[in-house]
Amino acid sequence: MKGLILSGGKGTRLRPITYTSAKQLVPVANKPVLFRVIESIRDAGIDEIGIVIGDTGPEVRAAVGDGRRWGVRITYIPQDSPAGLAHAVKISRDFLGDDRFVMFLGDNCIQGGISPLIEEFGASDRNAQIVLTQVPNPQAYGVVELDTQGRILKLTEKPREPKSNLALVGIYMFDSSIWQAVEAIKPSWRGELEITDAIQWLVEHGMKVFPYIHEGWWIDTGKKDDMLEANRLVLDELQPRNSGYIDRDTQVIGKVIIEAGAEIINSTIRGPAIIGEHTRVVNSYVGPFTSIYHHCVIENSEVEHSIVLEHSTVRNLPGRLEDSLVGRYVDISQSPIKPKAYRLVLGDHSTVGVL
Ligand code: G1P
Repeated sequence: MKGLILSGGKGTRLRPITYTSAKQLVPVANKPVLFRVIESIRDAGIDEIGIVIGDTGPEVRAAVGDGRRWGVRITYIPQDSPAGLAHAVKISRDFLGDDRFVMFLGDNCIQGGISPLIEEFGASDRNAQIVLTQVPNPQAYGVVELDTQGRILKLTEKPREPKSNLALVGIYMFDSSIWQAVEAIKPSWRGELEITDAIQWLVEHGMKVFPYIHEGWWIDTGKKDDMLEANRLVLDELQPRNSGYIDRDTQVIGKVIIEAGAEIINSTIRGPAIIGEHTRVVNSYVGPFTSIYHHCVIENSEVEHSIVLEHSTVRNLPGRLEDSLVGRYVDISQSPIKPKAYRLVLGDHSTVGVL
């Protein structure tokens, strides 16, 4: 079997972070979501992985490389325009050949991975397997209606009036019958070749499409709040570890990971939280569900339920930083300059909530 990861798209809902970084590279618990996806495919025993890339291709290539780090071989497949998931499959034909494959959306985060399911598909005679989960807002997703025996009746992409609350999770498994399907379908109302329509075509043409209902959590990390939620859920599952330095005046409570080269001085870290490599936390409080990435400085400040990306500084804040996603090389501090005022340099589409 092969793996296909989709890592294109503009990530407009995560601006301004995505002006300079692919959304799939934003870390959750200090590891880019895309790396988590590569690992879950690798853990299912697949070592040939294609990654479909778009505008942010150079960055994805720079971060992932040839895959050796994970013991896999990566092939990059450039997509000229974001013309839909089925279009991404279509342009990957040379790479996939007639092999069975798993397709994974590079911004999806799923509890526990799904290695057994992928392995099971590899050995089965099913033509396709889809992963479904119950959601409160099915109109935002591809929705699947099942009959009383649990067989697929119909798939609809973002229906106005959903017939069920079962959404398609961004993980799909196919055999070579998908090639006929992606050739047969036409673009949807949003001008995209929908993978949902291709799967509907398989069902209508009598192919064996197996629906698997995932019971754990699943997050499509398109927006800040989804990132924070994925971060909260992943942090909660990590094992505590200290590979850095914690001084005697520091209190570490609960599940906390301190990575190599990190220093915690006279501070309180209340887990679940992770402090990245070469980050310094001084006279500060880092609260639950916080990920501070590498080479950051948190000084005389309080941070909780937030993600701070690499090389950023948070200093002398009068109030607690909460529910925030802070980009790379950001500097947030209390200014000694009079008169007392907010002095900001913010990128396009930034959001700031003040006291
Ligand atoms: C895509 C699929 C949709 C699926 C979703 C999962 O939606 O078209 O069927 O439920 O991913 O994340 P999109 O992200 O293109 O809106």
